[in-house]
Amino acid sequence: MDRIAITGGAALQGTIPIYGAKNSALKLQAASLLAAQPLMLENMPDLADTRFMAQLLASLGVEITWIKETRTLRMAAGEIGSTIAPYDQVRKMRASFNVLGPLLARVGHATVSLPGGCAIGARPVDLHLKAFEAMGADIVIEQGYVKAAALRGLKGAEIEFPFVSVGATEHAMLAAALAHGDTVLRNVAREPEIVDLAECLNAMGARIEGAGESEIRIKGVTSLSGATHRVVADRIEAGTFAAAVGAAGGDVLLEGARAEHLGAMIAVLQQAGVAVEAEAKGLRVKRDGGRLKAVDFDTAPFPGFPTDLQAQVMAMLCFADGQSRIKETIFENRFMHAPELARLGAQIAVHGNEAVVTGVERLIGAPVMATDLRASVSLVIAGLAAQGETIVNRVYHLDRGL
Ligand code: UD1
Repeated sequence: MDRIAITGGAALQGTIPIYGAKNSALKLQAASLLAAQPLMLENMPDLADTRFMAQLLASLGVEITWIKETRTLRMAAGEIGSTIAPYDQVRKMRASFNVLGPLLARVGHATVSLPGGCAIGARPVDLHLKAFEAMGADIVIEQGYVKAAALRGLKGAEIEFPFVSVGATEHAMLAAALAHGDTVLRNVAREPEIVDLAECLNAMGARIEGAGESEIRIKGVTSLSGATHRVVADRIEAGTFAAAVGAAGGDVLLEGARAEHLGAMIAVLQQAGVAVEAEAKGLRVKRDGGRLKAVDFDTAPFPGFPTDLQAQVMAMLCFADGQSRIKETIFENRFMHAPELARLGAQIAVHGNEAVVTGVERLIGAPVMATDLRASVSLVIAGLAAQGETIVNRVYHLDRGL
């Protein structure tokens, strides 16, 4: 898909099933490396990123079967054939770096390219590496590669993260599951994806307690087995559709979406005048007539407002009555959608990590350029509520999933 043409102005109606979370699925896929028996993941999102991760795992020796009809991915890592994840693979998708911990824990060594910078900021992996060092791994960085070895196995450790990182928390959990002895992880991320990973690893025989709280305790086991696990519903996908309904108006049921994973987002939607109700099957989002109200919010680690929904909500607030202030506290360079939204007539002033959105009554469709995945979808949201036609170019980012 190269570009999306949108004729804006229609209210959104219907029911949308919410699939498994990409950000969870990628780490669950990496978990398959920890066991010789198959891991079956149900409700898998079939996206460029999850296919890409499956290819990387296949190159390491994991047998991959997609069962399309049931959205299930079967991964069997009977034997690890390679412990090298090359630059070309890790550069294209940062989550590929997450094979390092499982390889180190299962085989005792791995060579994985450093992910490098990306469009939304520097995004280092120092916390991941410090955690492995604390577990007794020798780490050398050479020619852009992390060479890690723990030939007699990883050891349990007490690790206090200096700040909250989703990726480092997950990576440390993956490695500690097979370490000798007990691990305590402090100041960890509490995202629903962390809980999902702990549930999957525990189904494989790991002994992890405290996921979803700020301290996780792991009793290392000598081996893990296969399991079947259903990937948690994607709160970012659900929140994205909710922002689209907020911007364009309408009445949509987000089937499978969970209110407890979207608390901060629901609060912002409600303050803006969008109705959100939990129903037995999911979340219903409604807005009929009436102008949206401006809202101020800061992004923060869970249970705070997710950075991955910031662009979408900014697009929605372009139509609000008054000024909204948005502070991005997780990543630098995460306002790249602002100048593109301005092409539709949005009024957004960016100062460092703060954006002030002065709402306008209408946006007018225009050609725009997608810069990263969430920025792309924010342009689609603006286009749905703008007058006339919006063409979003370079939407290949969107194929990667939200
Ligand atoms: C994950 C999500 C991403 C989301 C982010 C924050 C996946 C595949 N991606 O990314 O969509 O936006 O959580 O919710 O799950 N940092 C360091 N050193 C490290 C690790 C992180 O300085 O070793 C910094 C990062 O640059 C960033 C902050 O910590 O400023 C938080 O990043 P982190 O929570 O690790 O995000 P990811 O796991 O990369």
